[in-house]
Amino acid sequence: MKILVTGGAGFIGSNFIHYWLAKYPADSIVNLDLLTYAGHLSSLSDIENDPRYSFIQGDITDAVTVEKAITGVDLIVHFAAESHVDRSILDPLVFVRTNVLGTQILLEAARKHSVRFHHVGTDEVFGALPLESDLKFTESTPYDPRSPYSASKAASDHLVRAYFHTFGLPITITNCSNNFGPFQDPEKFISRMITNLLTGQKVKVYGDGKYVRDWLFVEDHCRAIDEVVHRGQVGETYLVGGLTEDFNNLEITRKVLQIMGKDDSEIEFVTDRPGHDRRYAVDWSKIQRELGWEPTKDFDACLKATVDWYQAHEDWWKPLKAQSEAIYK
Ligand code: NAD
Ligand code: DAU
Repeated sequence: MKILVTGGAGFIGSNFIHYWLAKYPADSIVNLDLLTYAGHLSSLSDIENDPRYSFIQGDITDAVTVEKAITGVDLIVHFAAESHVDRSILDPLVFVRTNVLGTQILLEAARKHSVRFHHVGTDEVFGALPLESDLKFTESTPYDPRSPYSASKAASDHLVRAYFHTFGLPITITNCSNNFGPFQDPEKFISRMITNLLTGQKVKVYGDGKYVRDWLFVEDHCRAIDEVVHRGQVGETYLVGGLTEDFNNLEITRKVLQIMGKDDSEIEFVTDRPGHDRRYAVDWSKIQRELGWEPTKDFDACLKATVDWYQAHEDWWKPLKAQSEAIYK
């Protein structure tokens, strides 16, 4: 199989390329990535000369580039997006451009060339859940996006479904919760926290810290996409989430502090994110039931492995750190 991966120089895309080439040695991958501030070829330096891998620097909103990249491809796995909620508050336009227009241009190329399309979506499209509740998002939860980022991702999901219903394009969608792990840009919560602590800065906790995310190790997400691509039902959506038992941001912070041998004096409460969603929680029973997927059981071990990775890979994240901190100034 020849796969077009969009956004393969980003966090999850680069993990996915590593995962896929290791598991399916006969497949080849074309990575189409614009290399925005979030795209790092250093995440793929180990495979840059692999004959099964090729890279095209280009924009998914450019139909000519997409037409070139899609030649001979059997499957598109679409990660490319503007992905950071805080940046979508500072500059929403590029989110609409890449996440909505870019997805439509890819869908149109996939339709023209009859290429199977897997769309990487987010649980944020469902809005926010109350803090003290057992409620979880399911595949039938109504869409209720609340940030420019999640609104643009919701629009992209709708377009993907529209291409299935209207044109019969073979699509699948996964809506996944918060990922963490190697190669995450140091601007996101866990990666920022670890790299702050490694550079003598405090952990910045937004608001009261009682916000809940459903954390998932990135390799689990790659495995879920693998299952859906191979065995998922065309036209269907699958929710993907973790096993973090509703730990809030403060509790996650304390886990990382403990792993790194530090204490609460490293915590700084800072101004909250506008429109901050209180809680996300994902019911992933459909993908478990239909495809046998489950998240890795040991969250603490995955967190420790992530801390270890950042400790061992300063050469990867140090050059990115100043740029990622600049958006908070
Ligand atoms: P990321 O920001 O780390 O990477 C995005 C990649 O897309 C970068 O390499 C960037 O250069 C590329 N890109 C951006 N605009 C582009 C354009 N116009 N043309 C081509 N390439 C472009 O994002 P991520 O965290 O790896 O997320 C990947 C996907 O997964 C996104 O669609 C995101 O919405 C979704 N998702 C992320 C998470 C998470 O926790 N990170 C959870 C669920 C879903
Ligand atoms: O739920 C899936 C989504 O998870 C993905 O679709 C997004 O692409 C991804 O960025 C992520 O969005 P979040 O906004 O949840 O992730 P972020 O890492 O920015 O923030 C996680 C939580 O931590 C959130 O409650 C805000 C808080 N936070 C974040 C940062 C960067 C802090 O308290 N301090 C911080 O420094």
